[in-house]
Amino acid sequence: MLISLKAILDLAESRNIAIGAFNVTTLEGIRALVDAAEELDQPIIMQFANAAHSQLIPLEMIGPIMMQFAERASVPVAVHLDHGANFEEVHRALDLGFTGVMYDGSTLSYEQNAANTRAVVEMAEEYGASVEAEIGAMGREEFASAGESSEQEAIAGTYTDPDQAAKFVRETGVDCLACSFGTVHGIYLKTPHLDIPRVGELRSKTGVPIVMHGGSGISDEDFVRVIDQGVRKINFYTYAVKYAGDAVRQKIGAADGNIFFHDIASWGMESMKETYQKTIRVFSKLN
Ligand code: 13P
Repeated sequence: MLISLKAILDLAESRNIAIGAFNVTTLEGIRALVDAAEELDQPIIMQFANAAHSQLIPLEMIGPIMMQFAERASVPVAVHLDHGANFEEVHRALDLGFTGVMYDGSTLSYEQNAANTRAVVEMAEEYGASVEAEIGAMGREEFASAGESSEQEAIAGTYTDPDQAAKFVRETGVDCLACSFGTVHGIYLKTPHLDIPRVGELRSKTGVPIVMHGGSGISDEDFVRVIDQGVRKINFYTYAVKYAGDAVRQKIGAADGNIFFHDIASWGMESMKETYQKTIRVFSKLN
């Protein structure tokens, strides 16, 4: 069933878990994700990063499919725009019925980011949708698409300042906040070291759920640590599609005779479903 981002985050808060916010770029990814969530009977956020992935599939093509799967799912699903780049993109997602939108003004000045985010909150209110925004830097440009590796490592000087984050939330009225505390998008070249106490401070000073980007490559132990400090939404993409690529390579290597394209799609889907299930289990603290 389709629910708002705010409602799904409230659910996470009541259970002290995080909801996986999985980026989708293919029908196989959408099917794998919904299947995984339904089998585990857990809520999910299905999101599309138009700024990073519009060359793979346009928002207007994948958006209605995401909505249809969310509406028919037996578990709560929020459909979300990831890293919305401007008002026009946010509007397009809201018009499609997305129940959450991220506006990413993190590269702008504080004042400009706050003013634009405030305008997005007003826009989303008209649709009954919820808003995520970001302050601090997380290597946005390096958001890996289709498994391309990222070179950037997080720089402690760009981590989100808890007092500034609290002011930002007061001034904008956002429902949740993406913060920088040691994660980056894409593939880590060095083991990430997360500033865990900062997460707790961000949560208590802002009073809203904290969003962690760059979930791929984080250890299960660190996932649990950040969840216990107040992370309620974890963005995850690169490893799901990387492992699916690895699985397809391995199957092709082992195959005799013809390989049909639908075989490749199924192999990728199976692998993604497995990754989603493992990840959702950790985020939902199952077993
Ligand atoms: P990864 O691709 O590193 O898992 O990050 C996804 C993300 O943060 C999308 O916003």
